Amino acid sequence: MDTQSIVILDFGSQYTQLIARRIREQNVFSAVLPCTASLEEIQSYGPIGIILSGGPSSVFDADAPPADARVLELGLPVLGICYGLQFITHTLGGKVLPADKREYGHAEVDILDATTPLFAGLPASIHVWMSHGDSAQELPAGFHRTAQTAHALAGIANPDKKIWAVQFHPEVHHTPLGPQLIRNFVFGICGAKGDWTPAHFIETTVAAIREKVGSGHVICGLSGGVDSSVAAVLVHKAIGSQLTCVFVNNGVLRKNEFTQVTKNLRDKLGLNLVPVDASERFLRELAGVTDPETKRKAIGREFIAVFDDEAKRIEQESGSVDWLVQGTLYPDVIESSSVRGPSQTIKSHHNVGGLPEKMKMKLIEPLRDLFKDEVRRIGRDLGMPEEILGRQPFPGPGLAVRILGEVTAERVAILQEADEIVVSEIKAAGLYGQIWQSFAVLLPVRSVGVMGDQRTYANTCAIRAVHSEDGMTADWVPLPYEVLKRMSSRIVNEVRGINRVVYDITSKPPGTIEWE
Ligand code: XMP
Repeated sequence: MDTQSIVILDFGSQYTQLIARRIREQNVFSAVLPCTASLEEIQSYGPIGIILSGGPSSVFDADAPPADARVLELGLPVLGICYGLQFITHTLGGKVLPADKREYGHAEVDILDATTPLFAGLPASIHVWMSHGDSAQELPAGFHRTAQTAHALAGIANPDKKIWAVQFHPEVHHTPLGPQLIRNFVFGICGAKGDWTPAHFIETTVAAIREKVGSGHVICGLSGGVDSSVAAVLVHKAIGSQLTCVFVNNGVLRKNEFTQVTKNLRDKLGLNLVPVDASERFLRELAGVTDPETKRKAIGREFIAVFDDEAKRIEQESGSVDWLVQGTLYPDVIESSSVRGPSQTIKSHHNVGGLPEKMKMKLIEPLRDLFKDEVRRIGRDLGMPEEILGRQPFPGPGLAVRILGEVTAERVAILQEADEIVVSEIKAAGLYGQIWQSFAVLLPVRSVGVMGDQRTYANTCAIRAVHSEDGMTADWVPLPYEVLKRMSSRIVNEVRGINRVVYDITSKPPGTIEWE
């Protein structure tokens, strides 16, 4: 089954991923490639249309990101957005100049040519979001103006060449009719069928995995989170018992998580799951360690060692292990090839990073084309329980990055109890699904309290709850006082070892979501 696609060439705009999402929401697959992608790579997607994104550069910059100008000659419909419009103008012989008046923010655009298929069904004037310093002043031959603001040109077209472009950003929320414009391009102009549904994705992915793996054996490290679970279920659907999943208890999971996840994935979803309780090994490695990065690295190292031992054992049983499943998502794929370059490392993330190199296994990444919410949609279509799909993210190094100072079995047990109360109260208040993450943090601070007539001298626990789209930025949640009150009262009463509760009111940036 062929998959129709729209290729987006990324000139480095912070909104590029949004363009992809707006198209995918219409059940049309879209791929984001760096603007430097070769013509062959672009054509390998068999695109039905091409979008040139915005970007921070000016066409005059010496280091303006280059793109192969031949994309404008493929005979495929092209839509330029912001910098994309300037790139088209500059490349085809028009003139781009610094604008007399820079336009940032809200603007009104008048549509000059109502016959432009891009604007079909739109009113004569639309509200848009602008963000540009340069402006096209002279159009290339064959182009005409299609839209205009009070200050500058807002749209151009050359229908014979199938090229359309707008100076504003139809992909952002602040352009309310943007989705209609994108639909016009995708369906009206490119002729998309809109058949990239979860069912289509599952069918093509399962077929591709089957073909790739043949009779080989595959292993998957499960974390109990959404991504690795959906990836495992997809691979399981493709090759059944040729997949073995390994779920490692690293000693810093949440309360009852090891047994619950095992039950969910093995009993409910029928995965061939090997639970490995390696808590003692991990806690031994963490003894005496207080530095956050050293903790993260110790857990990462130990995880690879445990997983390696299991893989060897599985290999002995099944003859060979040829493939490793990873739950890589599309934002990571885009990020690693982005013209902006990989972002700076603030914390070393531990998932199964480093495993493939060490174990010389080939990778299966069934989710590498998907955004997180799309993974959930696929999971639902696969019949997976909401308990797994709706789970808030949980970091690979687990509670270790929420226990400040040394991680000991005793401190893990204290935090597990407090965390369980936070999560259950958030759920009871009906807030769990609306919040990106909500959890407890155990601080290395003891303070004096009073309980009954007794003096106490015990630990402090912080509650953290944040809203976020993708974990990159976050706002603390103004939890209702009633909910905070119940959490605080239950924690100090029910958790031995904690006598004080504080609420973290730091956004990201400047804070991070996890405390370490
Ligand atoms: P920070 O603390 O960097 O976290 O603001 C951003 C998001 O990433 C999660 N996180 C991790 N996830 N392995 C993961 O899989 C990790 O090592 C890791 N560290 C942080 C964090 O929970 C938040 O959602």
